[in-house]
Amino acid sequence: MKVVILGIESSCDDTSAAILKDGVVLSNVIASQKVHEAYGGVVPELASRAHQQNIIPVVDQAIRRAGVTPEEINAVAFTRGPGLLGSLLVGTSFAKGFAIARGIPMIEVNHLQAHILANFIKEPGAENRHPGFPFLTLLVSGGNSQLIVVRDYLDMEIIGQTIDDAAGEAYDKCAKVMGLGYPGGPVIDRLAQEGDPARFAFGKPAIPGLDYSFSGLKTSFLYFVRDELKKDPEFIAHNLNDLCASLQKTIVDILMAKLKKAARQTGIKQIAIGGGVSANSGLQKAVREEAARSGWEVFIPRLGFSLDNAGMVAVTGYYKYLASQFVGLEAPADARMKI
Ligand code: KG4
Repeated sequence: MKVVILGIESSCDDTSAAILKDGVVLSNVIASQKVHEAYGGVVPELASRAHQQNIIPVVDQAIRRAGVTPEEINAVAFTRGPGLLGSLLVGTSFAKGFAIARGIPMIEVNHLQAHILANFIKEPGAENRHPGFPFLTLLVSGGNSQLIVVRDYLDMEIIGQTIDDAAGEAYDKCAKVMGLGYPGGPVIDRLAQEGDPARFAFGKPAIPGLDYSFSGLKTSFLYFVRDELKKDPEFIAHNLNDLCASLQKTIVDILMAKLKKAARQTGIKQIAIGGGVSANSGLQKAVREEAARSGWEVFIPRLGFSLDNAGMVAVTGYYKYLASQFVGLEAPADARMKI
């Protein structure tokens, strides 16, 4: 029998639906919410409202683009958490309604596990390279910065994580200080290309073990810019590229230091990066350079599957389907769901 899964993702500010058939992702539709740009960050209430508007058209398009019929869908996989509760509720409620209407089982998906399993997405006609087990993942997004050992599709252990802000949050908040738009990561990444990464030095945290911290960097960046603006009111405009390049180098250095330490400690040489910040050109370059030095084999999902998307939810749902891991209608959205 063919396995067709509808994946639903609505944990933050992207409404997404995907169709997977026998392990291959046939469609992955993402509606990003522009409404947050004016606020310099995601406004939870506005995010839930936009999900509410987007969910049905997005699912409809995903089914059409995949060329399947709703009757062919065997199970619906949905992001149960972690994320914003109001956002999660929209996807969770939709999944329940769809499952009841079609009489099919539901599969709960942890958003972080899905980012990791994005490395196993197969697309028609693509190269489809995947890591073997065990591999080490650096998961970096607007809400997470974690180092995870992956022993099997559904067997993962967090060995390090941020004790305060996530790396993407540092990008977004520093971008706000510079008056750049939201999300700030891609803008800083672009402006950094023309800047001098050694021009300014920002403090790096001294956190023991494999944990991260980014709140100190955000504060030191804010105070540095504020002090310089007193001397030159046009300081940001005069130094924008160098500020972005120096900030990017600091964030990448912090991420790489713990990734290298984790690889040494575990002896694992298959390295994957995932989450929105894995799209960063500086991080990708640093990981590839280290791969050449240390004999790592590196895996990075393509952009559409590294940002929030339902393709990764559908592929996680597929492995849970094969393991018969279903949930009942009582499964609530879980804003703090753990791996
Ligand atoms: O995974 P994602 O789409 O959403 C979650 O946070 O779950 O990640 C969004 C984050 C934002 O903080 C955004 O600024 C950051 O990923 N981001 C980047 C880049 N593209 C997205 N950060 C640095 N460089 C990029 N090229």
